[in-house]
Formats: sequence, C-alpha cells, structure tokens
Amino acid sequence: MKIYVPMDSAARAVGADEVAEAIAREVKARGIEARIIRNGSRGMIWLEPLVEIDRGEGRMGYGPVAPEDVPALLDGGLDSLGPVEEIPFFARQHRLTFARCGLIDPLDLADYQAHGGLTGLRRAIGMEPAQIVQEVTDSGLRGRGGAGFPTGIKWKTVLGAQAAQKYIVCNADEGDSGTFADRMIMEGDPFTLIEGMAIAGLGVGATRGYVYLRSEYPDAVRVMNAAVRIAREGGVLGSDILGSGRAFDMEIRVGAGAYVCGEETSLLNSLEGKRGVVRAKPPLPALEGFLGQPTVVNNVISLATVPVIFEKGAAHYADFGHNRSRGTVTLQIAGNVKRGGLFEAGFGLHLGEIVNDIAGGTASGRPVKAVQVGGPLGAYMPVDKFATPMGYEEFDAEGGLIGHAGLVVFDDTADMLQMARFAMEFCAVESCGKCTPCRIGAVRGVETIDRIAQGDPNAAALLSDLCDTMRDGSLCALGGFTPFPVMSALTHFPDDFACQKEAAE
Ligand code: NAI
Ligand code: SF4
Repeated sequence: MKIYVPMDSAARAVGADEVAEAIAREVKARGIEARIIRNGSRGMIWLEPLVEIDRGEGRMGYGPVAPEDVPALLDGGLDSLGPVEEIPFFARQHRLTFARCGLIDPLDLADYQAHGGLTGLRRAIGMEPAQIVQEVTDSGLRGRGGAGFPTGIKWKTVLGAQAAQKYIVCNADEGDSGTFADRMIMEGDPFTLIEGMAIAGLGVGATRGYVYLRSEYPDAVRVMNAAVRIAREGGVLGSDILGSGRAFDMEIRVGAGAYVCGEETSLLNSLEGKRGVVRAKPPLPALEGFLGQPTVVNNVISLATVPVIFEKGAAHYADFGHNRSRGTVTLQIAGNVKRGGLFEAGFGLHLGEIVNDIAGGTASGRPVKAVQVGGPLGAYMPVDKFATPMGYEEFDAEGGLIGHAGLVVFDDTADMLQMARFAMEFCAVESCGKCTPCRIGAVRGVETIDRIAQGDPNAAALLSDLCDTMRDGSLCALGGFTPFPVMSALTHFPDDFACQKEAAE
C-alpha cells in the first residue's frame, strides 16, 4: 500500500505533517506494510491535507484529513473523494506544466523520469541552439511572470549576444498577493524547473544558472537545494549533461524579502550582492544582465513549462490557448471563494466561469463584488466584466492585466476606497525610491484618498491626475502599475467613494 501525504507548505500549514506522523504511528502499530510518500500538492487547497491511498486499484483521495481521522482512514471507514483525477475541479484541467505536481515524489529522480521527466532535455541535447530557441518561439510561450513577453524572442536576443559567459536567472521572488504557482511547482516538482533551466542554457549558450528565491519560502528553498544536489549527482547538471559533453550548472540564492526584488533589474542587483534598486532599461538584461553579461531572466512557470514543450512538441503546446495567448495559464484562485487552488487550463476561460463555476462563488455565500486579477498591481474587475476571456490582450482591452495569473475574490462587504488606499500604501512601503513619481506619488496618493474619504470635492480629480503621472513617469511596474487597482476601484465602484460624490453635490 502507498500513502501520499503532501509536503507542500499550504498542506503543512493546515496539519499535513501531523497527519503524516499519525499515519506512520498507526501503520507501525498495526504492522501494516505501507510506504508513506510526501508528494506535492494537487492544488485543491480547500481539501488539504489531502491524503491519497493506493491499495493497488488507483489513488483514492481523502480530505481534509485530521490526525484523529487516521484510524478510520486505515480501516476504510472514512468517506473517500474517489480517484483524485475525477474530482471535478481537477478533471476540468489540462495539466501540462503541473502534470507531475502532486503525482510524484518531488525528490525522486527515477519517479520524475518514469513520468516523462528529462525527455525534453534529451531531445534538446540533440538540437542546435537556434533550433531550441525556434521551438520555444513556435510554442508561443510568453513570460508567465506577468508581462507576457515572448520567451523565444528573449532567448533569441541572448543567443545572438556575444559574450564569454551568459546566465540563466530564474525569478522565483513570487511576491504577488494571492499567487503560489511558483512555490507549488518548486515544492512539488522541482526537477521540472531544473530541466527547463538546463534547456534554456543549451538554447542560449549559458553554462550557469541561478534561482533567486524569496526567503519567505523556506520549504521551497529546502526542496530546490536538495533537488539541485540530486540532479547534479544524477548527471542532469554539471560538466557533462546526461553524457552529452555539454555543460550547465546552477545554484539557489535566497532573497531578503523585498517586493521590488521581483522586478528583474532589481533582482539582478540583489543577486550581485547590491541593494535591490531598479536599474534603468535599456540596457536590457538580455544584453547586459547578471554581472553585466547577457542573461535570460524568466519566471519559474515560464522555465518549468519548457520541458513539456520539448517533450510533446511546440505544436502540441501551441494548440492550447486563445488568440495570441497560447498554451495554458496556471490560475491561482484565492480570497473569498469556496474552492481555492491551482487550476491549469488553456487560456480563454471567462473570468465569471472561473469565479462562479470553478471556484464555486464566495465562501461567505454573499454576492461577488470584485476580483483583483494580477496581484497588488492588478485591476479590480467588477462583475460586469465577467465575460472577459483569460488572455493578455483581452484583459488589456478591459483596463486590466493577467500578471502572474493570481485571482483574489472579494464579496460585497469589501470597501473599495480602502482597497485603493491599500494599493497606494503598498507602493509607498515597497518603493525602491529611485524615481519621484513612485517614491513621492504613492505617499501623496494615500493622502489624496484620505481626502476623498473626508469629502474633499477636488480630491478625486487630483487622484486621477496623480495616477496618470505615476503610470507615465515611473521607471518600473511598481509605480507604473499601482494606478491599475486605484483607478479601477474609483471607476467601477463610485458608490464606495460616495463621500466625495456627496460633497460635490
Ligand atoms: P517589461 O514589459 O519591461 O519586460 C518584460 C520582459 O521582456 C523583461 O524580461 C524584459 O527584459 C524583456 N524584454 C523586453 N523587450 C525585450 C527585447 N526586445 N528583447 C529581449 N527581451 C526583452 O515588464 P517587466 O517590468 O519586466 O514586468 C512587469 C510585469 O511584472 C507586470 O505585468 C506585473 O504583472 C509583473 N509582476 C509580477 C510579479 C510576480 O510576483 N510574479 C510581481 C510584480 C509584478
Ligand atoms: Fe523604484 Fe518605484 Fe521607481 Fe520602480 S517605480 S524604480 S520601485 S521608485
């Protein structure tokens, strides 16, 4: 018998370790022959700790399981959720990037290979660098960190740059509120990120890589460090990748906890041991990045998607999606919802379908008021925009952004003036201070929203003006995108800014 208990930190936060310990004790006491495997999360967070038992007839799910449920679990007296893959939330997905997450033992390289791992890297080893870059271009993959820049074009720029040393830097500083896809894949299927980085290295001619991982993710740091060591011992990293004579090695670097270090140039400064301040672009990191050398900076999900593109082919990947957004999007559903978690599917699902159908509406049972899509710099989407399909251009046309694909749902008790104030306050706290529109604008923004709340009739126009200045004059997305949540709150929820309206009347 095999028993799977997630070691993902979301599952651990609700007692997975205690459940695993209780199972180990009970199994020993009863003399049952069972192997306990600490897997990643299947992404159905409301069911965690989700235990799976394989008695030889497939994996049956149980959850949420508490330590006191364990005797009944082993007796067969606990209600089962059935085969996990048949739970509707899971069955509706098309898992490409997350195909192995939750399925395998994250640190078992043999298990990884038994489920398709390293097939992509082996294929890439037989290709010329330009062919590798072309494959990524053909897949239509766009940067999953938020900007949606075509990954193939970025790689092509680095491939074309002449330098003795090039680098692959993975941005694992997942700072957006309500997002956890990077963490989940690093904890649940770390070899897929390592394989993606190795393919990127072969593609652009980089022999060294770094994962810049936020200190708030200690479990991911532990798993990634162990995975790098195992991959090196297994010949997946090092001077002779899988016997090909080609080299790529990498290491994990831990950040100190600043949101702005998720911005790529600030990240590079931090990685070089400097203060995490944004650099002006140009020069692009693709030409002058880490230590001034050509560098691919890609998000975890972008790089972790590369292996499946090489395993199944660019056309297979590009077959999923909607308009110019090709492949799958790894939605992270959070906030006030019945069913929160990781949902991977082709681009194109409508926002309303995700919130009402997949996530089951609000956990409070109250009507949905707004969904913030794309983290703290994303717009608040009102219910009348629920027909918007998930796609970079489609969200842009509605004044929003997909960002890292996090969705935070709010019910009708949310005060949108306070949410707008929070956005400005967040920007003021996290600003690196390099440029005036952000450093000073965000502080003035908080004050101006307070003036709206106090009924100042001129303050709303001033706020709108300030947002224009921040959007057009900021050096990076932190100052430049803060107007998205602020202006969307002001525009779509005028009733929450009623003091201002009343004063004007
Ligand atoms: P950007 O549009 O300036 O650049 C996107 C990427 O393309 C960068 O890596 C840039 O170096 C590269 N690039 C642009 N032109 C290029 C060219 N001609 N050749 C090669 N590479 C080129 O956007 P930025 O500032 O890097 O990212 C903004 C996004 O970050 C926002 O959309 C926001 O959603 C997202 N974000 C994500 C967070 C997270 O936790 N994942 C946190 C905060 C923001
Ligand atoms: Fe720094 Fe803000 Fe300017 Fe970005 S917008 S460079 S975070 S001051």
